[in-house]
Amino acid sequence: MNVYIYPDAQTLAVAAAALLAGAVIEKPDAVLGLATGSTPVPTYRELARLNKAGAVSFAKARTFNLDEYAGLAPDHPQSYRRFMNEQLFDHIDIDPANTHVPSGFAGDAEAADYDVQIAAAGGVDVQLLGIGHDGHIGFNEPDDTFSRTTHRVELTDITRQANARFFDSVDEVPTHAVTMGIGTIMQAKRILMIATGRDKAETVRAMLRGPVSPRMPASVLALHRDVTVMLDAEAASLR
Ligand code: GLP
Repeated sequence: MNVYIYPDAQTLAVAAAALLAGAVIEKPDAVLGLATGSTPVPTYRELARLNKAGAVSFAKARTFNLDEYAGLAPDHPQSYRRFMNEQLFDHIDIDPANTHVPSGFAGDAEAADYDVQIAAAGGVDVQLLGIGHDGHIGFNEPDDTFSRTTHRVELTDITRQANARFFDSVDEVPTHAVTMGIGTIMQAKRILMIATGRDKAETVRAMLRGPVSPRMPASVLALHRDVTVMLDAEAASLR
């Protein structure tokens, strides 16, 4: 695991975008695993800038997002599909048909089929990850075991409260989601985790210094052979 610390979130975003764009420059039809949340927003803005400047083209790239809220249609204002369109896909030259977000209506069989689609695309070349305050990656919440394939999950109260800022109230935050499993994430050839802000510092410390445990889902990254962790100074402050 390689850990890099940047003075601020914007500098980190430039570095994260450079890593992702570099993967696509090297392999134009690369498969990118993408994440939602506030953390990747500046990275997506930088990717759009690089694309507009002609530094990278996503015309042949494919993407698979980590997760989606259960029960939210793709055009719902708070769906992760809509978020991705608004934050990234609408601003780059990617073919919308090459962008994939799990269905929020998937039952177990359809959810697991997402892994089959990823494998058919040749697997994820670089998986971008944020981290939840409880250590979740995608929507893999602390649990007794590590999940395997894409599946339906119940969200914890911490996660629903953390994500309530995007909704009118916490009651509107869906109670369930469909997420890539830990097994799905660990099959990516390369993983890039980004974390910014003082509120992530304790979680980052637990991820880097604590035991590998499904109680701290992100700790599993210690078992992957090609992980880059990018932190801003605040997120790294307790490390
Ligand atoms: C959500 C997403 C995660 C993301 C997390 C942190 O729960 N499912 O993929 O990492 O939020 O979000 P933020 O970057 O807004 O702190």
